[in-house]
Amino acid sequence: MKTLIFNGSARKNGDTYALINELTRQLEGEYRVVDAHTCGIHACCDCRYCWEHEGCCVKDGWDEIDVYLRECDNVVIASPVYFCEITGPVLSVLSRLQMYWASRNYRHQRLLQKPKRGGMLLVGGGKGTATSPMNTSAVLLRQMNAKEIFDPVCCFITDTCHAMESEETVKEVKQLADFLNRKD
Ligand SMILES: Cc1cc2nc3c(=O)[nH]c(=O)nc-3n(C[C@H](O)[C@H](O)[C@H](O)COP(=O)(O)O)c2cc1C
Repeated sequence: MKTLIFNGSARKNGDTYALINELTRQLEGEYRVVDAHTCGIHACCDCRYCWEHEGCCVKDGWDEIDVYLRECDNVVIASPVYFCEITGPVLSVLSRLQMYWASRNYRHQRLLQKPKRGGMLLVGGGKGTATSPMNTSAVLLRQMNAKEIFDPVCCFITDTCHAMESEETVKEVKQLADFLNRKD
């Protein structure tokens, strides 16, 4: 079992990372975390190389993610909510998914053959709602061929109560881990 997690937080001791750690502690198999703030992967620049060729011509580490993405079983987007959206860096890294879309639409080739299970970990400091980040994450997870997406784990009011202090959130992370560990 392989799980790929995209992390949109820069805070190693923050709430998103606390939930990632809680999830990976319960995951079977191997996992890989892509830290959007430090991974050095640039945003898609719409050069359109992928309209005619397999893969991406920008050699900045995305190729490695591409290999893992093709073979993994699970994908998770974990991000703080910034202005009612997942953070810019994770959106920026995931703009590179454009090569799969272009491949399907212009070259009729499905690069991501293996179906995946998808999950979301979203945290916010305020009392807001997660409608936009949930919708955006769902679009991105589907681009990664997530056929089944689990109920988003959303934890708000982290300004006053850390995500790991919420029993409900910890329970939901366990349910997500169980879903991702399923063999059927
Ligand atoms: C630039 C910025 C924008 C933010 N916008 C929101 C927001 O729209 N809604 C919200 O609930 N919290 C917002 N927050 C608070 C963060 O989502 C919150 O502190 C979160 O727990 C940080 O996660 P982390 O500790 O994993 O980095 C914002 C924080 C920053 C820095």
